[in-house]
Amino acid sequence: MKKNKPCLIHLPKISDRRGNLSFVEEFNHVPFKIMRAYWIYDVPGGEIRGGHAYRDNEETIIALSGSFNIAWNNGEESGEFLLNRSYYGLYIPNGIWREIRDFSTNSLALILGSTPYDEKDYIRTPQQYERFYHELCQ
Ligand code: TYD
Repeated sequence: MKKNKPCLIHLPKISDRRGNLSFVEEFNHVPFKIMRAYWIYDVPGGEIRGGHAYRDNEETIIALSGSFNIAWNNGEESGEFLLNRSYYGLYIPNGIWREIRDFSTNSLALILGSTPYDEKDYIRTPQQYERFYHELCQ
């Protein structure tokens, strides 16, 4: 079975002497209908957010300000992306374990999601993720 991986999306960046403007459109720059937006900010130094996977929710994460790392694992492969420009989005398909760490001071992470918040969609522990992965891949 094909395993999905996160991928970096280069968002439009319109520059003139007044500064830069970027934007994101559903089904154009992100491959899903945007059903939710939330943001993470004021993260104390050394904290890790987002240690979980989603069964259905797909997402795109944008560093609107500052920088952070996103570590991912799909059960077979793993990797890490540094987000430090507001004109990049990291698309993460459903079923991927991800952690967001190394937040810089005043960083602001915007997360666009394909589903409304639903606690039942979360896979919250590495053990649950292991089970999810093995059931999926039988
Ligand atoms: P959680 O997704 O666990 O945060 P993170 O992945 O950054 O570590 O969410 C933290 C809390 O916020 C949890 O109690 C659920 C709640 N929450 C909502 O109510 N709505 C949302 O859209 C999100 C993302 C979280």
